[in-house]
Amino acid sequence: MENIDWKNLGFGYLKTDWNVRVTFKDGAWGPITATQDENVSIHMASTCLHYGQEAFEGLKAFRGADGKVRIFRLEENAKRMIRSAEYTLMAAPSVELFKEAVLEAVRRNEKFIPPYGTGASLYIRPLLIGTGAQVGVKPAKEYMLVVFVTPVGPYFKEGFRPISVMVDRFHDRAAPLGTGTVKVGGNYAASLLSGEEGHRAGYPAVLYLDAKEKKYIDECGAANFFAIKGGSYITPKSSSILPSITNMSLRTLAAEDFGLKVEEREVAFDEVSTFEEAGACGTAAVISPIGKIYDPQNGTTHVIGDGVNAGPWSLRLYEKLRAIQMGEVEDIRGWNTVL
Ligand SMILES: Cc1ncc(COP(=O)(O)O)c(C=O)c1O
Repeated sequence: MENIDWKNLGFGYLKTDWNVRVTFKDGAWGPITATQDENVSIHMASTCLHYGQEAFEGLKAFRGADGKVRIFRLEENAKRMIRSAEYTLMAAPSVELFKEAVLEAVRRNEKFIPPYGTGASLYIRPLLIGTGAQVGVKPAKEYMLVVFVTPVGPYFKEGFRPISVMVDRFHDRAAPLGTGTVKVGGNYAASLLSGEEGHRAGYPAVLYLDAKEKKYIDECGAANFFAIKGGSYITPKSSSILPSITNMSLRTLAAEDFGLKVEEREVAFDEVSTFEEAGACGTAAVISPIGKIYDPQNGTTHVIGDGVNAGPWSLRLYEKLRAIQMGEVEDIRGWNTVL
């Protein structure tokens, strides 16, 4: 195992030994290859550089209580990358190819998978890029799937504490019939300014409202939004948000393990004052509880719960999902791929 200060790792790029690549050429995917080269050499007219033919995924591998390594919901990430590829007319890797490429990258960097108990994990970043040269606005004929991994630190260094978020009234991340439902680079370029303005105002994340009416909650930074109210787990149904795999898993746990009613529906921003708990959910933190929502339109701060402590359902859901990822409880739904 590498000599790394696991507990104090942040969320940044730390060089590992290997990354994995697969190229698509002449209508077919080639073999999975591994390299120690951190650079990708591509033609300057590659479509990923000009027309945004780029999609990526983010998932994690965990070293469990029993020493085994588990990758959480690998197949769901494969399916989402396929949907992203289809929307942007890129060659899509099969679920099998995606899985094999990820497994190869994780196996080759085994010594970078943080030990159990540190709270750290191995972040896996698969990306798909159009590498064929094209000057007209057309899809490329050649693609590359790259998978790199990097160890990342525990998200909650000071405990499971709520964050404050700011409503973004000035930018939209994605349009209702646009690319918001897939994980393509352009969505993130469109969110950078918004995120930066949020940070400058002292908020770690911004809350996006629907682009058309600015009436309903969409998502929260690079995470989905959920709220708890009257025994229900409520999460927005929207044509411009990314279907979060963490949210999908939390909905299942909420309904099946905790007996909450799950409501996937339009969530009016006006409802915030009635929420007992709220949170942002995604691979990075599982759940970031939300304690305060600032709306610059009228200068109001909505306090959720007591504003400083995470609510009981958020904590239960978070702990259950973490326990499954760490192999501390039985994975009855087969969510983990055990190495
Ligand atoms: C825009 C956006 N929404 C939601 C999520 C959460 O998705 P997941 O739970 O699959 O990580 C992410 C992160 O992938 C994201 O980038």
